[in-house]
Amino acid sequence: MSFIRVLLCAIPIVFSALLADPLLAQKKDVFAFIPAGGRTLFAQLVVSHPPADELQAILTGKRTRAEWLAYLKSKAKGVPALQKFSEQEQITLADYLTFNMPLASGQGLADLAKADLEKALPPDGRDFALEKCQGCHIITVVITQVRPVPAWLGTMNKPSHARIKLSREQREALASYLVLNGGIPIDDVPEELRAGGASY
Ligand code: HEC
Repeated sequence: MSFIRVLLCAIPIVFSALLADPLLAQKKDVFAFIPAGGRTLFAQLVVSHPPADELQAILTGKRTRAEWLAYLKSKAKGVPALQKFSEQEQITLADYLTFNMPLASGQGLADLAKADLEKALPPDGRDFALEKCQGCHIITVVITQVRPVPAWLGTMNKPSHARIKLSREQREALASYLVLNGGIPIDDVPEELRAGGASY
């Protein structure tokens, strides 16, 4: 009798566990095709545990993008995570550092777990695009365009975009990310993000 009761109690638990798991597995990230931004790349670098003084030098540094790129390349030997980044990822990271370093509250970053670290770092251009550019049309309108930074800033300053809450610097960071990582061929965009185009 009591065995049956235990069994009956266990059924909903087992059932919900069975139900939850496959559903979770199916939930793939439809935006995975959009290249990682500087926040994600920088988090990968931090969790690879680079020498503390190298990390400190990055967190407190102030450089142009070209200087950051040269700096990162010069450090690749001592910081193995950097060797895994493609040229495009290195430039994207250098670009992010230009906009976000020195990081005032950066000291404790190395101690954070990856998920908390990703939250603690300032958002990158990819984050801005996903958060601010899907309200009126699909992201495809944005990430398939090829245009230089001034043209992007022009797009974002059109009346249709004036009310988007991004500071001037954030718009520049987004534009810079899109120049480096946008222009994605439509064939690389998942089917569900192709049809319809825009609702405006
Ligand atoms: C408040 C609604 C709204 C949001 C949010 C929005 N857009 Fe748009 N977008 C529009 C409308 C309306 C059009 C078509 C009219 C036009 O081109 O101004 C458009 C068109 C575009 C176009 C194609 C036309 C062009 O100018 O080349 C691009 C590219 C674009 N948006 C980029 C962006 C980016 C980048 C963001 C995020 C920063 C964004 N949009 C967020 C309303 C919006």
